[in-house]
Amino acid sequence: MATGAGIAGGVGRYRPGDSREALIPPCNKDRTMKILLLSGSFRKHSYSLALLGVVAESLAEHRCELPDLDQLPLYNEDRSGDHRPESVRQFQQQVDDCDAMVVCSPEYNHSIPAVLKNAIDWASRPAFHSPLKDKPVTLITQAPSLVGGARAQAHLKLVFDSTLSRLHPCHEMMIADVKAKFDEHGQLADDHTRKRLARHLEDFMGFVDGLAKSQPVS
Ligand SMILES: Cc1cc2nc3c(=O)[nH]c(=O)nc-3n(C[C@H](O)[C@H](O)[C@H](O)COP(=O)(O)O)c2cc1C
Repeated sequence: MATGAGIAGGVGRYRPGDSREALIPPCNKDRTMKILLLSGSFRKHSYSLALLGVVAESLAEHRCELPDLDQLPLYNEDRSGDHRPESVRQFQQQVDDCDAMVVCSPEYNHSIPAVLKNAIDWASRPAFHSPLKDKPVTLITQAPSLVGGARAQAHLKLVFDSTLSRLHPCHEMMIADVKAKFDEHGQLADDHTRKRLARHLEDFMGFVDGLAKSQPVS
């Protein structure tokens, strides 16, 4: 997978430290949705990336893409619109093209990591008519603490509210004490968390389906 261009590909099960290309399993079916996976962290052994690897496995019949948000420049309104850099144009196109988005993020200083907020800011223009408008989105946060990134999750809700995105109404998916949920190989080893994640994604895909069916036929 060329992650910058967001083309799905790669084989096998993702392990922290693997290349990002390995995160997306191959997609074999013809009729699939396009799901954009947004990470709030891009460090090699990121739990967010590892969890998105599990998400990509669970949604293997769909076409998942993982944009390299850490390659986007910092937002500057002078460089938006017709002057936007190619990496930004590609990312906005990925957001525009996708059917739904799954965000997985740590909490930084009781809020959203800058890399994720910056990407959302780029995608949010033009205001109220951006590619994020009406886009179904679900949130997953994780942290070593016992609150599982609750404040980052609350802030993300506020942000996606401002972009007029369709936030998945659900039991919040927060993963507390995240280090204990992974084994020494960096695999999600906690059955309860796996089940919660599977249930969360099933519910989200039902939400996305429901929204698609409720669209007026043009
Ligand atoms: C700059 C910074 C600020 C952080 N602030 C918080 C915080 O406010 N609350 C919290 O629970 N964890 C905080 N953490 C811990 C991260 O949320 C935690 O290490 C997370 O699991 C990292 O995610 P990753 O593995 O995807 O990189 C912070 C970490 C960093 C680097």
